[in-house]
Amino acid sequence: MSSVAMVEREIAQLRDELRRHEHLYYVLDAPEISDAQYDAMMNRLKGLEGEHPELVEADSPTQRVGGKPAEGFAKVAHSRPMLSLDNAYTEEELRAWEQRVKEALPSTEAVRFECELKLDGLSLALHYKAGRARGGEGATAVLVRGITRGDGEVGEDVTTNVRTIRSVPLRVSAADLEAAGMPEEFEVRGEVVLPQAAFEKLNEEREAQGLAPAANPRNAAAGTIRTLEPNIVAQRRLDFYAYFLLRDGEMFLGDQTAALAALRTAGFRVNAHARTVDSMDAVLAFIAEAEMLRETLSYEIDGVVIKVDSTSQQRRLGFTGRAPRWAMAYKFAARAGVTQLEDVLFQVGRTGKVTPVAVLQPVLIGGTTVTRATLHNADEIGRLGVRIGDFVRVERGGDVIPKIVEVVEDASHARGARTIVFPKICPECGAHLVKVEGEVDWRCVNAACPARIREELLHFAARGVMNIEGLGDAMVAQLLGAGLVKSIPDLYWLKEKKPELLGLERVGEKSAQALLDEIEKSKGAPLARVLFGLGIRFVGERTAQLLAAHFGSMDELMSASPEELEAVNEVGPRVAQAIVEFFAEPKNRELVERLREAGLTFIAEKKVTTSTLEGLTFVLTGTLPTMTREAAKELIESAGGKVSGSVSKKTSYVVAGEEAGSKLEKAQQLGVAVLDEAGLVEMLQQGAGDRA
Ligand code: IVH
Repeated sequence: MSSVAMVEREIAQLRDELRRHEHLYYVLDAPEISDAQYDAMMNRLKGLEGEHPELVEADSPTQRVGGKPAEGFAKVAHSRPMLSLDNAYTEEELRAWEQRVKEALPSTEAVRFECELKLDGLSLALHYKAGRARGGEGATAVLVRGITRGDGEVGEDVTTNVRTIRSVPLRVSAADLEAAGMPEEFEVRGEVVLPQAAFEKLNEEREAQGLAPAANPRNAAAGTIRTLEPNIVAQRRLDFYAYFLLRDGEMFLGDQTAALAALRTAGFRVNAHARTVDSMDAVLAFIAEAEMLRETLSYEIDGVVIKVDSTSQQRRLGFTGRAPRWAMAYKFAARAGVTQLEDVLFQVGRTGKVTPVAVLQPVLIGGTTVTRATLHNADEIGRLGVRIGDFVRVERGGDVIPKIVEVVEDASHARGARTIVFPKICPECGAHLVKVEGEVDWRCVNAACPARIREELLHFAARGVMNIEGLGDAMVAQLLGAGLVKSIPDLYWLKEKKPELLGLERVGEKSAQALLDEIEKSKGAPLARVLFGLGIRFVGERTAQLLAAHFGSMDELMSASPEELEAVNEVGPRVAQAIVEFFAEPKNRELVERLREAGLTFIAEKKVTTSTLEGLTFVLTGTLPTMTREAAKELIESAGGKVSGSVSKKTSYVVAGEEAGSKLEKAQQLGVAVLDEAGLVEMLQQGAGDRA
């Protein structure tokens, strides 16, 4: 075989394997290999395709990730209109619909109903066409287009973004088509959803950037699928559930149950909670189960869709206006409740922003007891015209925090009600609150405000930031209260105050040491996490990653001009300005210096350093001055190096700390190079520098 043919074969094998693992992971939720193994395979494929651009194909798994930003979306007509559904809210309405269905069909025909969850996302149409046949294989089907619903007649071509959704197969093999009884050319319709966890992460990110949070996962999904940057779409982790299978705009299998089975066989994600039944009583039972299930799902649903199962019956039932006669959406009642507003608290956040929080008479809404709701800001209080003592309607939507939607007028205790007074001074430190022209929020601008410091510490320590376990609300409150910590860098000197630490409530030797170890370990956190942890306005997790990858070191970033900052993808003038202002503040520069002094390594992003230590084997011995051996191991491995437990001729470096014993001796005997911690850090940074 020629070498080109060998490469072609390896590429084909890698693609097949990656597709198989994507299906296992994203559709079946049953991965067989680790993320690292998957990444390694993907990197190999990217490498080969990079060397042989002529072999790149649109349906290769490598094509999910990037893509050029779109300049806008082309309008495309649907094969047949994407209709909406009629809604039912009660059992009576459902029974009346059943009646109409049965009257329109011969009385001799039984009717089966297929029940599905009504996913709260947005609908998409995916078009597949015959692709190039490979080897002995018959023709495959390849994703050629993804179109949003639009107005139902004409949607927008969002193909590049759809490709990034991992549960959307980019191609269906000939074997799977055959097994599913599907032609090479077909259309799949279904729902794109943003899982709850991804939604919450997105909102945290938006908040950190000073942006208004997305109202619910559906809005966030809709915004995401129409984003012009496919890179962003790829990171958001949208999911796609298929619920229609069409050929030339028509159902072609005998019933909906068979269509879902075929879709599943072909590798599409089909929601597991679907059931075919033969009576309205059984439909009602499914609905009752779905309402309970709703609380446990990782994505939002807003009802149940009931479809007449038989394709032939569907055809005869036809359509009315914009909805089919053969389907009905049963909508769950909004998760809302009425309760009394007992008080309003004013919380001071990390950025000094003051948020009014409603304290409610506890009320059960959709299985959860709600005691707090957000009132957003002073404008919202005015808009609602709400007073303490009023009865209010509280809704728990797809969003995390319940909100007050209105005052229930007739139930209001007009006499006892008190006006809500938005404070003029910070409820925690007494400093005057400030409102910037054009912004709705009032802020405490006292950098020494204890509330701000508390929130700064909590943010710094949080999971996903510096990951300092054990440093939660209670511990931070105690540390601040006892004066053991006054600012972030103080954390790193806490080990010198162990006796005082042990004097705190419910802190024993074990938990104190665990906390100190966690703090110590965080010294090796990558630059992006430290940056995120600093709490610079508008610099969320993602922006921090981009900045770290671009500048490669804290010093480069600190001395960057607004223009240099704006050269970073996704960094606009507002963000650049905030960064420059942050580092212009002497107090903040001092903060960074103290962190450096404490031994934080500010190592540039994993992405940048990956493979800088590839092929090298390290042995760690003794106590390193600032990091635990575990942390050092993590850093080495994330840079592509290996860590081994014993020294041999194959060892590239021994990293020795204090009280290094026999391993150090052995290294000296064998002539293996010995590094100290600083040497290791330099090696890691060296690599980062080379690449940046
Ligand atoms: S079938 C003929 N099935 O609900 C139109 N729709 O209110 C049929 N939806 O636009 C749609 N889950 O976005 C169908 N399992 C499901 C669904 C579903 C969510 C959405 C879809 C549709 C809207 C209609």
